[in-house]
Amino acid sequence: MTKPKILVARAIFPEVIAKLEEHFDVESNQADETWSKAQLTSKLRGKQGAFTTGGDRIDAEVLAACPDLKICANMAVGYNNFDIAAMSAAGVLATNAPDVLTETTADFGFALLMATARRVTESEHYLRAGKWTKWSFDMFAGSDIHGSTLGVLGMGRIGQGIARRGALGFGMKVIYHNRSRLEASIEAELKASYVSKEELLRTADHVVLVLPYSPASHHTIGAAELAMMKPTATLVNIARGGIVDDVALAAALRDKRIAAAGLDVFEGEPQVHPDLLTVPNVVLTPHIASATIPTRQAMANLAADNLIAFFSGKKPLTPLNASDVAAK
Ligand code: GLV
Repeated sequence: MTKPKILVARAIFPEVIAKLEEHFDVESNQADETWSKAQLTSKLRGKQGAFTTGGDRIDAEVLAACPDLKICANMAVGYNNFDIAAMSAAGVLATNAPDVLTETTADFGFALLMATARRVTESEHYLRAGKWTKWSFDMFAGSDIHGSTLGVLGMGRIGQGIARRGALGFGMKVIYHNRSRLEASIEAELKASYVSKEELLRTADHVVLVLPYSPASHHTIGAAELAMMKPTATLVNIARGGIVDDVALAAALRDKRIAAAGLDVFEGEPQVHPDLLTVPNVVLTPHIASATIPTRQAMANLAADNLIAFFSGKKPLTPLNASDVAAK
């Protein structure tokens, strides 16, 4: 029997490639070349399945050129690289990689929050530059985490993980805003209170963004929202580039309208707006919130298992548009 043809669009763990090869005729990008959209499209032509990462855009144009495609399995929980409506219309199943990265990503959200509030990288740069010649009473004085108010915008699984760390580990008062309110029992466990977005921005000492990107969440934090925040507040974005207006944020940081920001994601990444590179009160990391080897292995295996289940006629583990594809 001929095996289905799949494309693995980025370099991944060799053992995951080996597992895929047991089931599929695999073309993979183990050289990790950066493909243009036209190159990705041409590689995908004639493939029935794709193993994608968050940077691989699958939209109507790609789908029209790849009529054999049946499934795209994303090795990411976020899937704004997929045009889900176009995929459903083309009868292409989309899967993502939730759950397996929740705790690792929440750990990182907290790490970025701590580094931002306590000015860890800014002070390290100072030390490395040989500027540390004496102690002073207010040197790199930051803001407290313990006992402060944590505002979580987007209270899905990762947001809840951050809230849990804040409330139970650091005695923070947790407020949150989300499309829908959590069940009372979860609010009680997380010691979290539901507030409007405006109240969250006005009262939180630390705002952490964990909401999914969509056109509706584009620039959820812009100049107006930054103006609502306390001048002592910090802002952390581990969600997606585009949720924050990076130019407005750089201006707010430069003018000390908020104290500091920690960013793991950027508009137009891997490019970073030059204004962000020149302000000192921002911690910048290259989209690594889920980056531990066990978690990245779990994400890659989940994407692979989605492909394997689908082509074995079983239910994929984490489908995004199964009912729409089935209804077609
Ligand atoms: C990472 O950003 C992910 O969506 O998994």
